[in-house]
Amino acid sequence: MTLCQSGELWKNCGRWEADDAWPGGTEAGGRTEKPRDEKRMTRGQSRNAVKNRKNYAETKITHNGGKGMRLRNIPGSREEIARSRYVVHEDVMKEKRGRWNEVFGNDHPVYIEVGMGKGKFLAELANRHPEYNFVGIEKYSSVLVRAVKKREEQPELENLLFLRMDAEELPEVFGTEEVAGIYLNFSDPWPKDRHAKRRLPSREFLARYDKILTRDGRVEFKTDNRGLFEFALEEAKEAGWTVEACTFDLHNDKEMAQGNIMTEYEERFSGMGQAICKMVIRR
Ligand SMILES: C[S@@+](CC[C@H](N)C(=O)[O-])C[C@H]1O[C@@H](n2cnc3c(N)ncnc32)[C@H](O)[C@@H]1O
Repeated sequence: MTLCQSGELWKNCGRWEADDAWPGGTEAGGRTEKPRDEKRMTRGQSRNAVKNRKNYAETKITHNGGKGMRLRNIPGSREEIARSRYVVHEDVMKEKRGRWNEVFGNDHPVYIEVGMGKGKFLAELANRHPEYNFVGIEKYSSVLVRAVKKREEQPELENLLFLRMDAEELPEVFGTEEVAGIYLNFSDPWPKDRHAKRRLPSREFLARYDKILTRDGRVEFKTDNRGLFEFALEEAKEAGWTVEACTFDLHNDKEMAQGNIMTEYEERFSGMGQAICKMVIRR
């Protein structure tokens, strides 16, 4: 493993002992919004923390302009999703809060990927780990429908379901300690500082993950975006999480790359010669 740089920010970075209970573990817009201001600081958050966070966004996080997946409207995608037996629908998902074992028909631990995209990573993980259940979460029908199409080709998988929802609602869908682990892969960077709270590894989202993760549950985050990765490390530290492992070059890190499953974005960006960063954090 490439140990992270020394210095304040990376103090917590270290070697993570692989945990058998972790599938894939070390193998493993345009809308406008009111600017974030001091009135919206949560208790315990220092003015400096907010200021530093702004600096990250303004100076370091760039958009992957043009290189990302374009969001095209796919006619009929909502209808196709509504018909799919692999999607747990909006009227049911909140009812199942705290009872996902009933949905899967077993008591296996549940792992989720937030911002799943076309679902390649999670389908492969579910295939490798029939002893766990997996739920892929995606906000847009036009993206989810592609994962659904691929899912239909793998009826033998009994441990993979999808939700079309905004991850902001996670604590309304999963109960306390109901999720064994969370994967964030190539999350949207949201480069403007006023959109920092939309970034999936932000402290706001960490607070949501905190509500649903088991006590020893981890969040694994991969990205090619160095600025977003540094932001995520800073947010984890601010929120009191521990960085168990991190690398700035996953594919050249023997230990952390072991059993790595490439996502669609990972294939694209590493194919362009970009280094992939990965961190594993826990409370
Ligand atoms: C850049 S893509 C990465 C897709 C995939 N994880 C990969 O690595 O190939 C990010 C995905 O996250 C989804 N997403 C972004 N914010 C989300 C949110 N708040 N809730 C659910 N999905 C979200 C986007 O719609 C998009 O499909």
